[in-house]
Amino acid sequence: MASESSVCVDPSCEVTTSVAPPPDPYLRAPLAHVPFASDHTMTRVRLHDKEFELFIPEADVNAAIDKLAGTLRAKYDGKRPLFLGILNGAFYFAAELMKRLDIECEITFVKVASYKGTKSTGNVSELIGLNERLEGRHIVVLEDIVDTGHTVRHIMDRLAEHHPASVSIAAMLFKPDAYQQDIPIEYVAVRIPNAFVVGSGLDHDGLGRNLPGIYRIVEPTAAASEAADTRHFPTSRDGTHA
Ligand code: IMP
Repeated sequence: MASESSVCVDPSCEVTTSVAPPPDPYLRAPLAHVPFASDHTMTRVRLHDKEFELFIPEADVNAAIDKLAGTLRAKYDGKRPLFLGILNGAFYFAAELMKRLDIECEITFVKVASYKGTKSTGNVSELIGLNERLEGRHIVVLEDIVDTGHTVRHIMDRLAEHHPASVSIAAMLFKPDAYQQDIPIEYVAVRIPNAFVVGSGLDHDGLGRNLPGIYRIVEPTAAASEAADTRHFPTSRDGTHA
């Protein structure tokens, strides 16, 4: 059979035109270099000096985001909402949510910087990177986790200055027992107890954001008794952190 590169000089010869297969480097690449592709069952990890155990598997986090996307779709279809992801932690939640939201919408990201002002101004906060016009828009703030709610308070105060049509909070995780504000957290994927967690965008001192699923800190006494099972988590893919 003629190959793609062969030349047929005999007129009776049938030339088979085989099309070169499209390049598929991701399909064919060995999975071994992908840190978690073959290790989704990792149940304990160490990040710096702390140990964490698997608390919510990735499939359950994604199922909860699925459900939340359905609620947001019903609420915001036709309103062209602007989703405002709070960096760094919300990158994972924002991406997973956007994949599931088949409505007309926009997304942008900001960082919250807070610092001590003068005596009269108290704690001051700024939304860094906000370039969009918010007046009259329906805003949905995307938070990785709402804990005490201080961050949410700062964000709401800053956004109110721009006169949006509405502002709601959507959180991947919410710790109701730690929450100290009266602002309603309208959309929550998963409610969790008051414990420190990492994974799916959340970090412990820069590490753990890329862990699939949610891992909960292991208290030192429990850690000591199960130290034999502990796996060490690689520091980072390229040695840098967000
Ligand atoms: P809040 O202002 O106390 O609600 O805290 C909000 C921010 O603190 C989140 O956006 C996270 O960056 C961080 N945070 C709160 N709880 C946790 C946690 O359990 N793990 C990792 N980061 C957390």
